[in-house]
Amino acid sequence: MNNISVRPLLPSDADSTADIFLRAIREVAAKDYSPGQINAWAQIDDRATWANRRASRAAWIAELEYKAVGFTDLVLDGYIDMMFVHPEYQGLGVASLLLEQVEQKARELGLNRIHTKASITARPFFERRGFRVLKSQQVKKRGETLSNFIMNKGLVA
Ligand SMILES: CC(C)(COP(=O)(O)OP(=O)(O)OC[C@H]1O[C@@H](n2cnc3c(N)ncnc32)[C@H](O)[C@@H]1OP(=O)(O)O)[C@@H](O)C(=O)NCCC(=O)NCCS
Repeated sequence: MNNISVRPLLPSDADSTADIFLRAIREVAAKDYSPGQINAWAQIDDRATWANRRASRAAWIAELEYKAVGFTDLVLDGYIDMMFVHPEYQGLGVASLLLEQVEQKARELGLNRIHTKASITARPFFERRGFRVLKSQQVKKRGETLSNFIMNKGLVA
């Protein structure tokens, strides 16, 4: 779909990102994790902390006709903390466009590698875009244990 655009995230995007985060977990990642795990993951304890964290690093929103359909970010050491796409806009290339933006920024910062902790759901997407799994791990979230994968990708200059 070629009408998707990507722009830097603004403070006013906090509610849209929260909505996409919660819905992507509850409606998409739910196929790969148990209801208890999904419930533990799909929580935002404090909206102000959420908004501050989104604003604290480079981050981007994907839009389709002015509607927010996905978001991502890049922490200065090359870490992608967030990659979430709205459930109704899956499989349209939204995450791929967001990742292109991340890679461009990483190159500008002189990074030669980016990395993430991918969910079971996101692993095939990252593999398709050149990441490889370094190891699988178990993380604790609100009393539940969830599997994810430490993945990275080298960037050619
Ligand atoms: C993972 C996620 C971000 C992918 O977003 P998306 O916009 O649907 O991805 P794209 O449309 O850009 O897909 C790019 C490629 O990856 C492939 N891909 C994406 N998800 C896939 C899956 N679950 N299984 C197999 N392939 C997948 C696509 O087929 C596509 O391949 P192509 O280039 O050959 O067409 C999205 O599914 C999501 O939000 N998942 C739930 C939340 C989540 O787990 N986020 C990650 C937290 S670490």
